[in-house]
Amino acid sequence: MKNIVILISGSGSNMAAIVQAAQQRRWGARFGVQIAAVVSNRADAAGLAWAQDQGIAVAVLDHTTYASRESFDAALQAHLDGYAPALVVLAGFMRILSADFVNHFAGRLINIHPSLLPAFGGLHTHQRAIDMGCQFAGATVHHVTADLDHGPILAQAVVPVLPGDTASALSARVLTQEHLLYPQAIEGWLSRASWV
Ligand code: GRF
Repeated sequence: MKNIVILISGSGSNMAAIVQAAQQRRWGARFGVQIAAVVSNRADAAGLAWAQDQGIAVAVLDHTTYASRESFDAALQAHLDGYAPALVVLAGFMRILSADFVNHFAGRLINIHPSLLPAFGGLHTHQRAIDMGCQFAGATVHHVTADLDHGPILAQAVVPVLPGDTASALSARVLTQEHLLYPQAIEGWLSRASWV
């Protein structure tokens, strides 16, 4: 079995959607992969307990205990290398990763961002889309490159921005689509993988 490792920082709802898709859509039998581990940079990430309940190995690497971004990224890279991951999935992982880390996992490191990239990279995407008067918002699954939120796009989902939308209402509408989009994008990536 080849390994997929998922990185989270918070509630982990995208991670849960991916784990459920892997089970329901038999990624093990079809693509020879398993979700081997979930790693968080925050001990209080709610998704950790859920993943543990599913029998998935979980780990916390607390970035605040490292002297620099580079030393944290090096420790994270070493931990992930223990799984020799075929794919590293960032799912609400709220850390900027250094170029060395990104280059090490080049071609097998993907992220979901809650906007229609290349518009609104970075934070506060929903409020910024509302403030600009956008009529559509959405989410993007993309390869991670050293250029934040700018890697090649794998998949997108579009939702309408409704009159009177707040950032939290729009965020919830986008998140529902993220839960469909991310597993679908990973499945597409797996179906094109060299070993399948
Ligand atoms: C998602 O909107 C994701 O796109 C963004 O952070 C949120 C994470 O949610 N980067 P969850 O932890 O997957 O529930």
